[in-house]
Amino acid sequence: MLDKLTYAGREENFHDVASDERFRFVRGAIEDPDAVASTLDGGIDAIVNFAAETHVDRSIAEPDAFVRTHALGTYVLLEAARERELRYVQVSTDEVYGSIDVGTFTEDSALRPSSPYSATKTGADLLVQSYFHTYGLRATIVRGSNNYGPYQYPEKLIPLMVLNALHGDALPVYGDGMQVRNWIHCTDFAHAIGHVLAHGDPGEVYNAGGPDEQANIDVVRRIVTLTGASEDQIEHVSDRPGHDRRYSLSSDKVCALGWTPRVRFEDGLAETVAWYRDNAWWWEPIRSGEYRAYYERQYGRSLS
Ligand code: DAU
Repeated sequence: MLDKLTYAGREENFHDVASDERFRFVRGAIEDPDAVASTLDGGIDAIVNFAAETHVDRSIAEPDAFVRTHALGTYVLLEAARERELRYVQVSTDEVYGSIDVGTFTEDSALRPSSPYSATKTGADLLVQSYFHTYGLRATIVRGSNNYGPYQYPEKLIPLMVLNALHGDALPVYGDGMQVRNWIHCTDFAHAIGHVLAHGDPGEVYNAGGPDEQANIDVVRRIVTLTGASEDQIEHVSDRPGHDRRYSLSSDKVCALGWTPRVRFEDGLAETVAWYRDNAWWWEPIRSGEYRAYYERQYGRSLS
């Protein structure tokens, strides 16, 4: 595994596999060809590009890292795969399609990204497809919906709300909170990526969406109930600029390959809340570190 360990990456996130003899960790950037080359020494037959700057709010405030990682980083990995004739999987996002009020996106839907995050992810997808068409690289793309589960950095909706609820902090809902997301448990998404790596056809795109859609305000209300917090903690704050209203993915194509999402949102959310409640060792250093300064910049108030 090659990882730069930027603000959201930590060795604590892979402590449970670190001693496995099949696992090797190299600290470095995907946009650094030397780091990529040293990671690919010996017995590697595929590259799966999970590396990304993922947070939409950060891409609105400071887009430069998004261009570097998604455009340049993907290019460096593609070149490495081409030179060594490796298989390649690009981990992508439903955000490349933009927002959909009714219905659901298929792999043939138009690409209409709306944030610097999703626009640079779209650019990376197009570059991957060009390497298939031009050089015959055995590349596939998996587009996931909103992931949730343990070890997620608390800038994202669910861990942010869980930790704020547990600490008695305000729960900042953007705008009216009626934006809809198509939640997928991280284990289901990981299985979808593995499934495409094993069974996907080169040159193809596969959507992998979760089984349930939820309005943000309903997610937050469920978290209030699961944590025993108070609904009075919910605060409607200024909306995200260019905020996509709804995401919805059709996953029929990857389901036809034999994948199916197993975790229903109600169960996965309850498990996730319990994980955060029981694993303060994991989030305490985050909540007392750089995250506090980010929170103040983003929300204009301090955490308790
Ligand atoms: O759809 C897949 C995408 O899901 C991934 O490609 C992105 O990397 C990932 O960050 C996520 O994007 P979102 O922008 O949908 O996730 P986020 O957790 O930031 O926000 C989820 C929804 O909750 C969104 O409508 C904005 C809203 N929200 C978020 C935060 C952090 C709030 O209302 N308040 C908040 O404080």
